[in-house]
Amino acid sequence: MNSFVFDVPVEGHYHTQWEAPSNIALIKYWGKYRQQLPQNPSISFTLSKCVTSTEIIFSPREDGVKAFEFLFDQKKQPEFHPKIQKFLKRITHYFPALQNHHLSISSQNSFPHSSGIASSASAMAALALCIVDFEKQFNSDLTEEAFLQKASFLARLGSGSAARSIDGPLMVWGQSEAFSQSTDYYAIAPSVDLHPIFRDYQDTVLIVDKGQKRVSSTLGHGLMKGHPFATQRFEQAHTHLNQIKTALILGDVERFIELTEAEALSLHAMMMTSNPHFVLMQPNTLAILQKVEDFRTQTQLPLSFTLDAGANVHLLYPLQDRIPIIDFILKELTKYCQQGQYIEDQVGNGAKKI
Ligand code: PMV
Repeated sequence: MNSFVFDVPVEGHYHTQWEAPSNIALIKYWGKYRQQLPQNPSISFTLSKCVTSTEIIFSPREDGVKAFEFLFDQKKQPEFHPKIQKFLKRITHYFPALQNHHLSISSQNSFPHSSGIASSASAMAALALCIVDFEKQFNSDLTEEAFLQKASFLARLGSGSAARSIDGPLMVWGQSEAFSQSTDYYAIAPSVDLHPIFRDYQDTVLIVDKGQKRVSSTLGHGLMKGHPFATQRFEQAHTHLNQIKTALILGDVERFIELTEAEALSLHAMMMTSNPHFVLMQPNTLAILQKVEDFRTQTQLPLSFTLDAGANVHLLYPLQDRIPIIDFILKELTKYCQQGQYIEDQVGNGAKKI
């Protein structure tokens, strides 16, 4: 991946600002090898309202000046520093100019930081986009496609799923037969004709637990090394990816529901059967899953769930069925949320320069 290495001259200040979305995986990435490469391919919907907005001023660095300063919500928040430092160190190989520039970074999220919604995907993607934007003014070979690929490549080095927080409405990350351009190194927006029903699909996130993640991503992915079901799980993800591609093109919501729910439960099954094991669903998570299933049976409305590595529930449904579904969510499900908190989002089209 040396084609991604680029240096720039040390001159002047450069200011840039990008807004990057969060994403929700339909086929889950769980397990990695080497430097943040996925053991299986994944596909996600890009979201539209849950975003991180990041502004960076690049200035030539004088000797002895530290590499970056960081404000989150206009405040100094040193707890974020180690992650940013690690990220910048990792990507310096691909962008040596980071060694002689000072980065003044300021970020904010559109969603509450302590809502239990992982912000690392949108945060790392926004940082990566600002950095590639800086490179772009010196690198005339950087076409729009190459720009997005490099941003995804760098974002991946910060957090695997961040590779998918660049473009939209669908993002595929990880080499698979189903998508000919797919690669482990960066995510692509596949050129499939997404059925209209999915173009504005809804994602209402029920915040069951606002706490910090109980399993760090690094530990979680590490649990797949030597996991008794690893091979089957990776094969399953490939099969599901092929199948969901067809469902997404045909607008086959029934098949989409089967596959996304199976994926969420497989992800949690992997965590429950690893050593050590983790049960991340909580009683309220299970109560929600049960109610969703009952509601679907009774009303025949296509409401389904997916889960990340935590207790919160993402509820997926078509915009055309929003009125009865949101009514059900408010009356029957928000009581299982911490302080009744939930976030309404929907499929979006990718990052934007501000
Ligand atoms: O990006 P990471 O390393 O935090 O891993 C995220 C993994 C899942 O959210 C559980 C699944 C996915 O594909 O997003």
